[in-house]
Amino acid sequence: MNALEMIYGTPAGKFVAKKMGLNEPPKLRRGRTMPTGPVVLGELDGGGIARETLSLLGITPGQPLLDVADNRTKDEKGRAQPPRYQQKPGAIVIDATGVREITQLEGIRQLLRPIMRGLEPSGRVILLATDASEVEGLEAKAVAQGIDGINRTVGKELRAGSTSNLVFVKGGATAQDLASTMSFLLEGRSAFVSGQAWRVGPAKVQHEVSPRPFEGKVVVVTGAARGIGAAIARTFARDGAEVVAVDIPQAGDALAKVANEIKGSALQLDITAEDAGEKIAKHVARVLGAEKKIWAIVHNAGITRDRMLANLDEKLWGSVLDVNLAAEMRINDYLLNNDVPGGLADEARIVGIASTSGVAGNKGQTNYAASKAGVMGLVWAMRDELADQPITTNAVAPGFIETEMTGAIPFLQREIFRRTNSLSQGGNPVDVAETLAYLCDPASGGVDGQVIRVCGQNLVGA
Ligand SMILES: NC(=O)c1ccc[n+]([C@@H]2O[C@H](COP(=O)([O-])OP(=O)(O)OC[C@H]3O[C@@H](n4cnc5c(N)ncnc54)[C@H](O)[C@@H]3O)[C@@H](O)[C@H]2O)c1
Repeated sequence: MNALEMIYGTPAGKFVAKKMGLNEPPKLRRGRTMPTGPVVLGELDGGGIARETLSLLGITPGQPLLDVADNRTKDEKGRAQPPRYQQKPGAIVIDATGVREITQLEGIRQLLRPIMRGLEPSGRVILLATDASEVEGLEAKAVAQGIDGINRTVGKELRAGSTSNLVFVKGGATAQDLASTMSFLLEGRSAFVSGQAWRVGPAKVQHEVSPRPFEGKVVVVTGAARGIGAAIARTFARDGAEVVAVDIPQAGDALAKVANEIKGSALQLDITAEDAGEKIAKHVARVLGAEKKIWAIVHNAGITRDRMLANLDEKLWGSVLDVNLAAEMRINDYLLNNDVPGGLADEARIVGIASTSGVAGNKGQTNYAASKAGVMGLVWAMRDELADQPITTNAVAPGFIETEMTGAIPFLQREIFRRTNSLSQGGNPVDVAETLAYLCDPASGGVDGQVIRVCGQNLVGA
């Protein structure tokens, strides 16, 4: 039972929450589940890629608006009402990749208006636009960003666990490149991702979308003994991966439990060891076979040592930067530069975990914010450095996730943190895990150098 279920799952908890003026947050659709209602497709001038992407996923768009003539129907007070759908749509995909002019944004308004109160719970708004760097002229560039303003606001106005996200399509990207992103966004895997925008370009090597994308592939997860790391290990194992679960020797029992449960292997290792990268490769070669390569490495292990900067000593400063950033860089460095048995695959996926603290800063967390903003900087730098290779580097930036780490925050402060987002609740570790799995998916080769917030559109840094 997570903290949320503890509060709302008992009559006493419900009573207290009601007294505090807290409504029960919507239950989010999770996992590899599709919306139940139809997926509606709205195409604006010059689009087409969304239809092709949906078709690749075997999705036939549902019925269009019943009444497209906006403002035609009126309520009893004579106010214009948006047209309605016969059946509540589960999602709307708006292909705005051809939108270049301010006046064309009206088309997005027309498509979205009936949806705002007409989507099924945990519904989806998915916008596709052309990346500003790919369009000519000031108006077109401004309009591309304007679509993100729509996205972020729609995310805040939607109710009942529905989300809105925007995909900026880069030049040369095909429907095949977009398919893994579209399926992630439609499915429950993206439950706690809302109000976000990220870029998808052409993959160097294309793969088809599959329900078990990591079949026979080795995935290394650091900090896998508990919390988000354990959820990551379970999620990759569900999707077919042979997981190497890494954690410190002190967490050995919990680590073994996770590894056994998912039929993976455990490696007791402090990732700050100078030779951690070498130890990981040797473990993979010894336990899984010398011919095996690491498909994905998930740098999840992280610590907090919170103090106001006035009280922050060198030790608390250094330990956080070493675990959260320097260790990750040393491991990457070894694996990228040594073609050894058990080393990195040619098309490997490298993913890290940033944080909204790194995006916006957080009182008492200078060390942590430095390390997590550093993880984002590393992702952007590695995208450029590895631009000629099919390896991708990405990160997630979780907001408030229900784990032992956040369980240590005092109750009232915790309740405020978990509530201040568009979904009115904290995320579950699996929400972070699902987003990482999407980024590491073989079919996500066109997603590179991105940091995706998994925060329910947290107000912090939004
Ligand atoms: N929980 C949240 O709300 C939240 C928000 C943003 C980011 N994050 C990040 O997500 C990641 C996981 O967070 P969590 O909440 O599950 O934390 P957690 O404390 O519950 O788990 C972290 C795991 O990392 C392991 N670890 C720590 N130092 C290590 C080392 N030197 N070598 C190997 N393993 C080590 C720990 O033993 C532990 O099992 C961290 O990077 C954290 O900063 C968490």
